[in-house]
Amino acid sequence: MKTIDELLAEGVTGKRVFVRADLNVPLDGTTITDDGRIRAVLPTVKALADAGARVVVASHLGRPKGAPDSAFSLAPVAARLGELLESSSGEVAFATDTVGESARSTVDALADGRVAVIENLRFNPGETSKDDAERGAFADELATLADVYVGDGFGAVHRKHASVYDLPARLPHAAGYLIATEVAVLKKLTDDVRRPYVVVLGGAKVSDKLAVIDALLGKADRLLIGGGMAYTFLKAKGYEVGISLLQEDQIPTVTEYMERAEKNGVELVLPVDVLVSSEFPDLKTKAPAEYTTVDSDKIPSDEEGLDIGPRTRELYASKIADAETVFWNGPMGVFEHPDFAGGTRAIAQALVDSSAFTVVGGGDSAAAVRTLGFDENAFGHISTGGGASLEYLEGKTLPGLAALED
Ligand code: 3PG
Repeated sequence: MKTIDELLAEGVTGKRVFVRADLNVPLDGTTITDDGRIRAVLPTVKALADAGARVVVASHLGRPKGAPDSAFSLAPVAARLGELLESSSGEVAFATDTVGESARSTVDALADGRVAVIENLRFNPGETSKDDAERGAFADELATLADVYVGDGFGAVHRKHASVYDLPARLPHAAGYLIATEVAVLKKLTDDVRRPYVVVLGGAKVSDKLAVIDALLGKADRLLIGGGMAYTFLKAKGYEVGISLLQEDQIPTVTEYMERAEKNGVELVLPVDVLVSSEFPDLKTKAPAEYTTVDSDKIPSDEEGLDIGPRTRELYASKIADAETVFWNGPMGVFEHPDFAGGTRAIAQALVDSSAFTVVGGGDSAAAVRTLGFDENAFGHISTGGGASLEYLEGKTLPGLAALED
């Protein structure tokens, strides 16, 4: 994999460099609620601009249906990128399409050392198409905008999309600083792991995490389970889970995982108590909710679990305390509501307090760490890729990394 430093050493002055970033940030209307992914690509964009490249930054945002949709415009992201780049690279230009007239004229007008953002790649159906020819045709058009490709959208490397997979095959390419950092960190979780290796998994759906649990049963020493996915495990143990999130169809798989964990000597730890309520909390008004704390085998039939309870928080913190390596993906509860953020906060605090190499695996957990006010520097690494880091840990070949290999 060619590094960006090698590319810079060859000289990029006056070259149009297409940077495929992952600027898929959470938005509230047009307000960016967490700009972590924009900040994460700054080193690459700055280095290229400082070296005199004409930098064309591209990304997806959300999941529009292959056509322009103003709710998913990258315009607010381009504005924020401009603020973060400050005076060094000047104002960031914005093209209102991907490969149309606006993109062409914006790129043509770029001076050396300046930066432009093109509109959401997923406004074109070719970006995500399953049809190789359709994806290839879009990649051909994107290729006309640039002389060189830099892959730095780590959060999207698990997607076989035109700008991630097909475009690097059409241009000289290199990996940006973010991808290099993310891969180096993930290697520490897969090769030569320092033990005890503790993995904390949460989030709503157990089905999203099955493959990684499968892989980790042969690698981790302890698996701590929380969030909505925990209720499928509790049900598989024979507990009543009321109206909690449940994936009945996954019970046989989860049962097999619990048996395999025992056989492999992997400690698979489930919540011993949970906060329950008969109503899902109002995430808009954040009005105080009515809830109680119950043992996890005593969830009332008309209530749902919304966070891990205080005894579980303590238990999980103690399981993290002596770890040498910790990977955490997925919130422990409905952290967007203050009454149910305690479990997620407790895990973040346990990581901060630990002397282990700690990695927060992207998506909601990375956003949670920041919105709950933790100092990012207190963690070993906060990944920008949720799905991407999980698929890496599963041992899958990631299209966006494979495309940068040769
Ligand atoms: C993410 O947020 O995980 C990445 O940006 C990928 O987004 P996607 O799941 O919509 O492909």
